Amino acid sequence: MTGPYTRPKIRIAVLLLLALLVAAPAPVEARRRSRQPTRSKLAKPIRGQAPKGSLLGLGRAIDPNHPLRRQVKPEALLRATLGLLGGGDVATLPRHVRTALSKQVKKSQRSLRKRKTQMALIDTLKRQVGEQQFEKVAGSQAAGLKAALSKLDEGRGWGPTDSHDMQRGWGWQLLPKGDKAFSDPTFLARMLRESGQTGHGMVHNEPSRAIDVFRSAWSKIAPNNVRPEAFALTGSDANNLLYSVALVAAQRRLGKREIKSAEILYFDGVYAGGRGKIGGASFLPYGKDGAPNLEAYKIASPHTPQFGRITKAEVKRLEKIEAQALQQIEKKVTSQTGKPIGGLLIEPMLGAKGVYFYRPEFLLKLRTLCDKLKIPIMADEILTGGGRTGKFFAYQHYKGFEPDFVTFGKGLQVAGVATVRRDAPRDAKGKPVWDKRPPSYSMPRGMTTLSAYSEPLLKGAQVMTRIHDGKLMQNAARVGKRIVTKLKAYAKAHPSDYRDKEGPPRGMGLLIFSRVRPDRVMDAMGRLMPPLTLSQQQADQIFAEKNLR
Ligand SMILES: Cc1ncc(COP(=O)(O)O)c(C=O)c1O
Repeated sequence: MTGPYTRPKIRIAVLLLLALLVAAPAPVEARRRSRQPTRSKLAKPIRGQAPKGSLLGLGRAIDPNHPLRRQVKPEALLRATLGLLGGGDVATLPRHVRTALSKQVKKSQRSLRKRKTQMALIDTLKRQVGEQQFEKVAGSQAAGLKAALSKLDEGRGWGPTDSHDMQRGWGWQLLPKGDKAFSDPTFLARMLRESGQTGHGMVHNEPSRAIDVFRSAWSKIAPNNVRPEAFALTGSDANNLLYSVALVAAQRRLGKREIKSAEILYFDGVYAGGRGKIGGASFLPYGKDGAPNLEAYKIASPHTPQFGRITKAEVKRLEKIEAQALQQIEKKVTSQTGKPIGGLLIEPMLGAKGVYFYRPEFLLKLRTLCDKLKIPIMADEILTGGGRTGKFFAYQHYKGFEPDFVTFGKGLQVAGVATVRRDAPRDAKGKPVWDKRPPSYSMPRGMTTLSAYSEPLLKGAQVMTRIHDGKLMQNAARVGKRIVTKLKAYAKAHPSDYRDKEGPPRGMGLLIFSRVRPDRVMDAMGRLMPPLTLSQQQADQIFAEKNLR
């Protein structure tokens, strides 16, 4: 026979070719499985080393990172599936991802186009990655969408909201609009789930779950003995809820369950509210529109622009008003005529009227009196709460003083009433420890269909977590001090630029008051309330830009 393979040279060449093929079994095997690899893409062996998996050092290396051998992680598959659900084209997915996806649900690659298969994939992958990771991955898709949509909002809203905005819209925001906290994937995923966007529920899916998220964030940052009990949409609503609290307190104090309404005493100068009965206590006329006349419950307010070292003359002035205030309270509570009193409303640091403080000595006396009279002290921290003053609540600046209720709102995104367990045990540092005993004054129960709103609760939780993790209260204290020092220096150097009828520039944390000509510092009300993220460098830059030297 003289066929071509019988010739010795050709026979050797054929044998050599066969040896080469045997020497590189894995890529061939893989190629068969995926129908894809090309020679050029495969990893080259390191020079001088016999490639692993080759016979006698011949042939190619087995590259564990090659796409065909790479295990596609469930997170990546989840991302790909979410893309498909969002209208993505299966054909644009790399082949190894398509293969992995179809394997997951044991369906053809063609069926990956079907919504049913995509949902089956979601189910399978959700089980694999767990709920937490699922939220993170799904939320990261939402973060992209949010970034794109927020382009539409650029330039809208109430005034500028960049981090150089010292006005910070009357303090209702603690963080700048574009803060990273609001692009956090888990947060966005929860917002979508809880906001009712997923189509279940009436308005919100499970506000109770959002309340848990809010309470858990709160517990990281608020004093341990203060617990949010009731939620409302606005600060005014939260303050109006205090009338229900006052009723229970008055019934208990007088031992008369038949009492049907009670009144709240308040210090002259509180903002109180822009609507509802509590609006009648406001120092501003528009809050009083439609509200009952509450002048009879107003108490002289011994507030002062000085904090800490108070001048002798100021102490003298204050002592008179303090005595008068304490007398008025006792008289009004013990009087047999008029409506029963069920509480006293104070702003531990007045924020709407300007920035004013009380003497700690006075607040301690007030505390003793209210305990004697058995009326709860209600602290309105709607403007000051959340860390603006450098502590979570402004009342924490007064050593030894605690109210019985605190109302919160504005920057915390959701308003409400929190109870303070003043008798909670303390740790070695004197800090309260949470205990389950009922508070001395309880919140009345009452049903309203829509009493808690998922979105503001989740947003509030996000704000508190960011403040806690970013140590933003400490930042507020540090930067605030610097700003006040600079404003004081400026006011001294430029007396004609400063209207100082209400005292020199002052502040607590980033709640600052300064009558340096409004156009120089932006806020016509004289208050500066920048976001808690403001850094010292940014503050310095603002001063330089405004030529405030
Ligand atoms: C101290 C204080 N309490 C209550 C309120 C009322 O809050 P809202 O405007 O959300 O009703 C405000 C609002 O400015 C406030 O500053």
